[in-house]
Amino acid sequence: MSKIFVSRRIPAAGLEMLGRAGVEVRIGQEREDAGVDPRVMLDGVRWCDVLLSLLTEPVDRALLAANPALRGVANYAVGFNNIDVTAATELGLPVSNTPDVLTDTSADLTWALLLAAARRIPEAHEYMRAGKYKLWGPNLLLGADVSPGGNGVRKVLGIVGFGRIGAAVARRAAGFDMDVIAYDPHARAQVESSGIARWADLDDLLARSDFVSLHPLLTAETRHLIDETALRRMKPSAILVNVSRGPVVDEAALVRALREHWIAGAALDVFENEPAMAPGLAECENAVIVPHIASASIGTRDRMATMAATNALAHLRGERARNVVNAGVYEGEAYRARISRTIARA
Ligand SMILES: NC(=O)c1ccc[n+]([C@@H]2O[C@H](COP(=O)([O-])OP(=O)(O)OC[C@H]3O[C@@H](n4cnc5c(N)ncnc54)[C@H](O)[C@@H]3O)[C@@H](O)[C@H]2O)c1
Repeated sequence: MSKIFVSRRIPAAGLEMLGRAGVEVRIGQEREDAGVDPRVMLDGVRWCDVLLSLLTEPVDRALLAANPALRGVANYAVGFNNIDVTAATELGLPVSNTPDVLTDTSADLTWALLLAAARRIPEAHEYMRAGKYKLWGPNLLLGADVSPGGNGVRKVLGIVGFGRIGAAVARRAAGFDMDVIAYDPHARAQVESSGIARWADLDDLLARSDFVSLHPLLTAETRHLIDETALRRMKPSAILVNVSRGPVVDEAALVRALREHWIAGAALDVFENEPAMAPGLAECENAVIVPHIASASIGTRDRMATMAATNALAHLRGERARNVVNAGVYEGEAYRARISRTIARA
């Protein structure tokens, strides 16, 4: 019987799909609030034909090399920075992810955070809950406009990373009559032909934007893309939104920026050393913070589960998975040798 190791429990829709395919499934961690013990992870990888991983589990070269009969890795996330894809490719292992199905849900959360930070919704909510509301007042919880609003000036939304989610965030800005500018060194043509955003280089974008929204992949190039220098380039009235990956922002520098009001606020779904936060961040009143919930709608998490399961089954059968991030692997000798060895033996 074919075996798939699922590092942590995913929604039932995905597991049922694996069950219907007659696959034996082992789950590395049942608890919602705990990661997988590295020894359990290693045992699971050695036991299985395909690994279905979550973004909380580092999948490094040693783990991938631990089982010469492994056929692929299906990540339950669109981001795949938890996996050493270079090592996987060298070892002949396809790596898949779950793009598209979470684009809208993640773009919606980006806007929820942007609006919450601009209009100080969490502070207002706490104010009500604490019974502080005694009388309406003209200066109560004043925030920033997102649409032209009172002064009639169109606000500038700067998108860093104009991929699926960045573009979906840009599309939603039309409803707020915003001017959208975007920076993405690998997608300049897409920005220029999009009809929804104009190209800006990063320094220009940071200096001009009222809202800066981050949507790049996490790579060596984007780690700390938003550092002290970048934060100091932003307007003192600007708000930074991060729904990409925590390490894209130097979080210690961000805490200084929020405390010393280099910028007006930040809205964060992701953190540099998740689940920990940089010292002082939780105390910043001008930060809106949520626990990595960008794709957390019932419908989207189900779709991610069935997509990851579909990818895992393709890896298992030695078929081309639809959402492979290292598609070149299929042309390599390492993959061919691995599949002919493992499928022939199965
Ligand atoms: N917070 C969450 O729960 C959540 C949910 C979904 C996605 N994400 C993150 O959002 C990222 C984007 O998802 P997507 O589906 O839009 O991916 P995508 O691959 O469509 O877009 C990523 C974009 O980043 C760009 N990029 C690469 N290097 C860059 C750089 N140096 N500067 C600026 N842009 C750069 C790429 O060119 C690409 O256009 C994912 O990689 C993931 O890490 C987070």
